[in-house]
Amino acid sequence: METQPHSDATQREGGTIYHLRNVVLDRKSEGVSFRLNVPSLQIRQGEQIAVIGESGCGKSTLLDILAFIAKPSDIDSFRFRPNLADSPTDIGALWDKKQLNALGDMRKQHIGYVMQTGGLLPYLTVRDNINLSRNVLKMKKDDTVDTLARELGIARHLDKLPGTLSTGERQRVAIARGLAHQPSIVIADEPTASVDPFAAEKIMALFMELAEDRNITVIVASHAWRHIKRLGLRRLAHHTSRSEDGRTTETVVNG
Ligand SMILES: Nc1ncnc2c1ncn2[C@@H]1O[C@H](COP(=O)(O)OP(=O)(O)OP(=O)(O)O)[C@@H](O)[C@H]1O
Ligand SMILES: [Mg+2]
Repeated sequence: METQPHSDATQREGGTIYHLRNVVLDRKSEGVSFRLNVPSLQIRQGEQIAVIGESGCGKSTLLDILAFIAKPSDIDSFRFRPNLADSPTDIGALWDKKQLNALGDMRKQHIGYVMQTGGLLPYLTVRDNINLSRNVLKMKKDDTVDTLARELGIARHLDKLPGTLSTGERQRVAIARGLAHQPSIVIADEPTASVDPFAAEKIMALFMELAEDRNITVIVASHAWRHIKRLGLRRLAHHTSRSEDGRTTETVVNG
């Protein structure tokens, strides 16, 4: 429950887009339980954040919480302020009241999501895939898609189907799609998971540069810290512990 007076909290947040306090997600399936525990997390506008950790530690789960896809089991405070001119939205209250449409609208408008598996629609051309989020928001046609495609080196593929592209090219299309509707936040789940380390570093560097040019806050999950470190991202501290029988895993994230 919220314990501080709202005005105090708002003042302290400054340029904070995400403010989480004691947000917990519990999962249990077939006798195996997983808990993601976020005692305190603040993400400021324009920050570039890295969530690094081994497979299964909860990176995708954390990103899904930040994208209002996964419902936390327990929330003391979860506020989201994509436009610093506006007052923060109480995400905890929206989940409490099951306002799924409001959460979905907030996601569509402010967040670009680059999925772990690319998530491109195979029957749409590259151009239409990149345009998806813009179409949903009924944004008017301009040169955004062409510009992004050029910057990402995929302009010559715009009229092709994703299935005819290489893995690295598809990942660049997914990044273009995450950026095309000019969101203030882009969440990327292992955007370079299936390309070689050299290509991965190039794609990540390009992604960070595009985000920085547009003053977009970036949150990216990866299991590899080396090339992310070189790009200067802020790494969230996390600790994963497992019970001796391996049946209970808990990851604690702070940052
Ligand atoms: N849909 C689901 N149903 C049940 N358990 C799940 C589900 N998705 C993930 N989990 C479990 O939750 C835990 C965290 O998973 P998560 O996908 O967040 O890990 P991750 O760090 O993203 O791993 P990876 O690096 O392999 O992508 C794991 O123990 C996983 O088995
Ligand atoms: Mg994952």
